Formats: sequence, structure tokens, C-alpha cells
Amino acid sequence: MQPVEVKKGIYWVGAVDWNIRDFHGYSTLKGTTYNAYLVVDEKMTLFDTVKKPFVNDLICNISRIVDPKKIDYLVVNHVEMDHSGAVPEIIDLVQPEKVICSAMGKTALIDHYHREDWPFEVVETGKTIDLGSKTVQFIETRMLHWPDSMLSYLKEDRLLISSDAFGQHWATSQRFDDEVDMHELLFHAAKYYANILLLFSPLVQKLLANVQKMGLEIDTIAPDHGLIWRSHPGKIIEAYDTWSKQQAANKAVIIYDTMWQSTEKMAFAVADGLAQEGIDVKILNLKLNHRSDVMTEILDAKAIILGSSTLNNGILPPMADLLCYMKGLRPAGKIGFAFGSYGWSGEAVKLMTEALEAMKVKIVDGAMKVKFAPTHDDLKKCAELGRKAGLEIKNQA
Ligand code: FEO
Repeated sequence: MQPVEVKKGIYWVGAVDWNIRDFHGYSTLKGTTYNAYLVVDEKMTLFDTVKKPFVNDLICNISRIVDPKKIDYLVVNHVEMDHSGAVPEIIDLVQPEKVICSAMGKTALIDHYHREDWPFEVVETGKTIDLGSKTVQFIETRMLHWPDSMLSYLKEDRLLISSDAFGQHWATSQRFDDEVDMHELLFHAAKYYANILLLFSPLVQKLLANVQKMGLEIDTIAPDHGLIWRSHPGKIIEAYDTWSKQQAANKAVIIYDTMWQSTEKMAFAVADGLAQEGIDVKILNLKLNHRSDVMTEILDAKAIILGSSTLNNGILPPMADLLCYMKGLRPAGKIGFAFGSYGWSGEAVKLMTEALEAMKVKIVDGAMKVKFAPTHDDLKKCAELGRKAGLEIKNQA
């Protein structure tokens, strides 16, 4: 894709990855982009690079604007390899005067690429660098989402280059929020938040407060993935505020796997009970729904309800996968319970309940397990449990 001017003298020069389908466990079914930004000023500055296989896209795009050898500064906001993979080749080509990064960024770059001889310039929150007509202010965002992460704010342009924050995994030919469907854009942003940033929600709250305290005027947010927020930056800031407060809707997700459809019948009965109370219910069969799509549904749900048959004294493998993934992402403020069928030992419900408790999910009125196949009465009890969860959701609203 050709470079695009974001603001006068500031260009998107990144790459679009149409074909990526897995991003360390996150399903990227619509690809992604690796955004890099070139500022043409007295000090030519490149903000971030791209994933290594896309280095030629980056060099071509820079070359359409300036000779890459004229770049003076390379800013590395974040060292994860989707953004720094091309750093070694860019430094070899450009021979920049400075490689600007956080202290943790310098350590991470050396740990990744083993080049202590690069011309590092370490910056910290509040530090500014003059590019000529433009001033860059840096804001460290440790553990958002790596220790090295930082943001770059171009003061005169009121532009925040936000690294992974406010991004989306969505490959498009458009570069700006006002050129695509807002509903789909927010869906991809929500999926990104639920799968990358959810566990850092308290830090997101601190960052939003800090940005306000610093009095940064922001009219454009340029993340390192996906679309640039030039017309609706307020929408994504507001969404991050809601998501990081883990505010939930009157919504429940029932997530299950089943051996011979008994647990599935229980899932549908639980859903009936919730729906009777007017709750928005999503039923997610783990054989049909990817873990990262499940997390997207959990983001704004009040209840997490888990179902699994017992297999070999344990839970079914897709449920084990989900629990491992979900535990790391630390959803907060949820209620829930577990259910499932069994043949003789029946450990699955207990194991799922323990997993929910370990995630500080408030258990609603115990659990429900059924030997082999549910009777009509069993399904009525499942529906009743769903109804109780629905009442609890409404009480907490
Ligand atoms: Fe897009 Fe943390 O890298």
C-alpha cells in the first residue's frame, strides 16, 4: 500500500498483512497492519518499523517520500517484533544519528538484536525532542503492554502515535476511521482490547488519567495496528475508559464443549432461563468459536457460565485451553457458575468452578451436574439456575 499523509509532513509508511491468521493465539481472521510513521522535518524521523518480512514495503514507502538515508532519528516506541523486526535492516540502511527509546526499550533491543553499538538515546516521560518545526514528547507506558512501551506525542499536530494502544487487527486499504464502518472498527478494537490489554485495565485507567493531567490536546490517534483515529478519537478513548473499568452489560456468555450433546442440552436450558429474565445470552460452543472471539464476548458480559463433560477425570481439552487463556487476561467483576454431564467420576464441574473462583468470579448458587443424559427435570433445574443468574445480573445493574 502507498504512503498516506496523516498530517502535513507526517506520513503513514507501514505495511498491510492481509494473510496473517494467528497472532500468538489470537485469531486475526481479517489480517492486520504494521503502522510506521515518517515525519519530514529538519530532523527526519521514523516512528517504529514493521514486522521483518515487510521491511521492503517500509523501505519502498519511505523512498516514495524521501531517500531513507536522510532519516536522522529512529524512534522505537515498542520492541515486540511486529514493530521492531525491521529495526536492524533499517539501522544498517539509514545509519541514524539517534535510536530513541525508553530505558527498558534499550535493554529489550539489545536482548533481541545484540547490538550495543547502536546510537541509543534513552528518553523518559515528559522528555521532549525538537525535530525543527515539530516537537515530540514521550510518555512511557510500562507494561502497556510490555515494559519498554511508550507513546510519542507530536505537540504542534496534536497527534498521538500510540504504539499498540487503540489499535485493531484489521487489514484494510483505507487508513482512517472515517473511511470504514464504525461498528466494525469498534468490534476489531474491542477484540484487540479483550485479547491484548484486558489484564492491564488498571494501568489503562492510570494512563487515561495521566494524559488528562498532562493536558495533552489530542485530535488524532495513530496506533501501530489498524486504522488511524482522525475523526473520532473521542470514541476510542471513551471505549477504552469503559473497557478498562470492566463495565458490563446485562449479558451472559455460556461457553461449553460437549461429548454426546448432554452438556449442550444443559447449555441451551441455562440460556432459556437467562433469556426469561431478559438477559442477552451468547452461547459459544468451543468447537466452533475461537478462544479470542470468546474473550471478545466476555469483555462486556456480566456472567461467565462454563459447561464441559467430564473426560478422563478432567475437563474437555478446548475448555482447558480457554481457561488457561482467560486466566491470563484477568476478566474482573464477573459472576458465573459451571455445569456439565458425566458418566461415573464427574470432576469437570468442580474443576471449572475452582477455575472460576481462582479468577474471582462470584459463583451463583452452586453448580449443576447430570449423570449421562439430562432428564426433563434436570433441564428445568438448569433453566432455573440460568434464571437465578439472570436475576443476579439485573440486581447488579
Ligand atoms: Fe503490536 Fe506488542 O506489538
